[in-house]
Amino acid sequence: MLRSHTCGELSIKNVGEKVKLCGWVHSIRDHGNLKFIDLRDRYGIIQIVCSPDEVKKEIWEKIESIKNESIVCIGGIVVKRPEETINRKISTGEIEVKLLSFEVLNECKNLPFEMNTNEKINESVRLKYRYLDMRREKFQRNLIKRSDFVFAIREFLKQNNFVEVETPILTKSTPEGARDFIVPSRLNPGKFYALPQSPQLFKQILMIGGFDRYYQIAKCFRDEDLRADRQPEFTQIDIEMSFVEENDIITITENLLKYAIEKTFDVKIEIPFKKIKYEEAIEKYGTDTPDFRINSEFVNLTEIFRKSEIKILREIIEKNEIIKGFFVNDGDKISQKDIEEYNEFVKNLGGNGIGWIRFKNNDIQSPFKKYISKEIIEEFKQIPFYSSNSLLLFLGGEKNWVNNTLKNLIDKMKDKLIQEKNKFSFVWVVDFPLFEYNEEEKRIQSVHHPFTHPKIEDIEILEKEPLKVKARAYDIVLNGIEIGGGSIRINKREIQEKIFKIIGLEENSYLEKFGFLLEALEFGAPPHGGIAIGLDRLMMLLLGEESIRETIPFPKTQKGICLMTDAPGDVDEKLLKENRIKIDIQKEV
Ligand code: AMO
Repeated sequence: MLRSHTCGELSIKNVGEKVKLCGWVHSIRDHGNLKFIDLRDRYGIIQIVCSPDEVKKEIWEKIESIKNESIVCIGGIVVKRPEETINRKISTGEIEVKLLSFEVLNECKNLPFEMNTNEKINESVRLKYRYLDMRREKFQRNLIKRSDFVFAIREFLKQNNFVEVETPILTKSTPEGARDFIVPSRLNPGKFYALPQSPQLFKQILMIGGFDRYYQIAKCFRDEDLRADRQPEFTQIDIEMSFVEENDIITITENLLKYAIEKTFDVKIEIPFKKIKYEEAIEKYGTDTPDFRINSEFVNLTEIFRKSEIKILREIIEKNEIIKGFFVNDGDKISQKDIEEYNEFVKNLGGNGIGWIRFKNNDIQSPFKKYISKEIIEEFKQIPFYSSNSLLLFLGGEKNWVNNTLKNLIDKMKDKLIQEKNKFSFVWVVDFPLFEYNEEEKRIQSVHHPFTHPKIEDIEILEKEPLKVKARAYDIVLNGIEIGGGSIRINKREIQEKIFKIIGLEENSYLEKFGFLLEALEFGAPPHGGIAIGLDRLMMLLLGEESIRETIPFPKTQKGICLMTDAPGDVDEKLLKENRIKIDIQKEV
């Protein structure tokens, strides 16, 4: 080994020992007659002290010229620091190493960005020089925590009899609602593999193959529009079990998350998590990914305002539209200026603006004050989310628009509404519809994927009233973000075929795509179900990051580009020819 110790492992116990250390020059401080080098590796930082009396002139000069982030190897003796210079914040803070020898292993040129800074660094530069970005403490912590977390996941699943199985990357389409990435097959000209959007079909086949409990830390690929919580290539904790019902998957997932989160992070996770039905979530929060850290629900005010003299609201109600709003608990944190901003926001989303009532010391403030009678104020006070110092914000309009707009408004106000930002608030959303209507394509499509089992009691209306059918599906949401989803699967061919037909697949098309699955379902396919948790998203939330890119070593940009390698790139003409591919890019006009 080039070193006797790592930079982080030395302590007061090592005083007097001769050591050899390797690492990056984190910083150098020049105190004239002494120089201090902070030497860093993955394990920590140690202070090296260098005196011109102890080292040769060349070494002293070399240290004078060395740049930060150069790699050096130093030899020296561990000494106790003078009392007044002890740094109790770091594990090596009681000691320093008196430098005796110094070798530069590799010099670093001028850095493209300042590494030791708390200021925000342009993300494109960080992605181009990812290897430098990665050396920073925060990034090291993120990837190490991710590794610890995955280890705990494997530990729990192994203890619970799960078998880890790898499934193919070069495969056929596994529809999860995104576009496929495709790979040409040289040996089968004109044919393409699809990269898996998830291992969905393979994990079902593994159940039919008798494995009973499967998991995989699985790479998935989806060609879709990217955003802060989406990457074209991401990782799932993918699980499937035989002879189970919804609650079995829900319980094992709760126990798994509790085990791995508590083992990796310093938090307590309460299980079971809350559950909410899809319809209730839309009604109360305007979304199927509610954030329970916000202590408020939408309240329907239509009936109260029907009795008021407020013309503009009465007109809305007479059109059979609704008035809905929500209470902000501590109304003072929302200023009149904020309300004006929300008013503009709502107008930009197509509304007339926002209504408000401030409740204060048994009185109210509101632009509608003179039309709101004492009786009506009393009715407001009966609403569960009312409190003596609250602010009621409300909107009128068509039901879906109102739910959506209130949800967008809540998102905009989030920072003001959430008190405990660092709390982990998990919730299951259940009883989803099986299908939804795609207005653009004028067809019915699956809300999850087409292998989801309908609720048993709804099977009889499957073909007559498909949009009324509920699914045996469940999503798990953490702090308002969907981190996972799953379902009980169809294990009978005739039901699976019916579903394919309802979503508009012709027989020859579904046989070509999923014939192998349909056939497998006829060879003793057990009842089975599972779930997939988005690992990158979950890590983002657990680590308190705003983007999944902070938990992925080599992520892509919004345009799907890896700025470090410049992928995707051109391909040699020869390779294109071998794959029988001709490029025909129409110039954009
Ligand atoms: P689903 O499509 O809901 O289910 O995916 C499961 C979870 O994967 C994460 N996820 C993503 N993370 C980052 N970037 C993306 N582009 C991306 N897309 C999805 C989300 C999501 O909740 N086969 C089913 C699961 C099952 O039924 O068992 C599936 O893939 O956190």
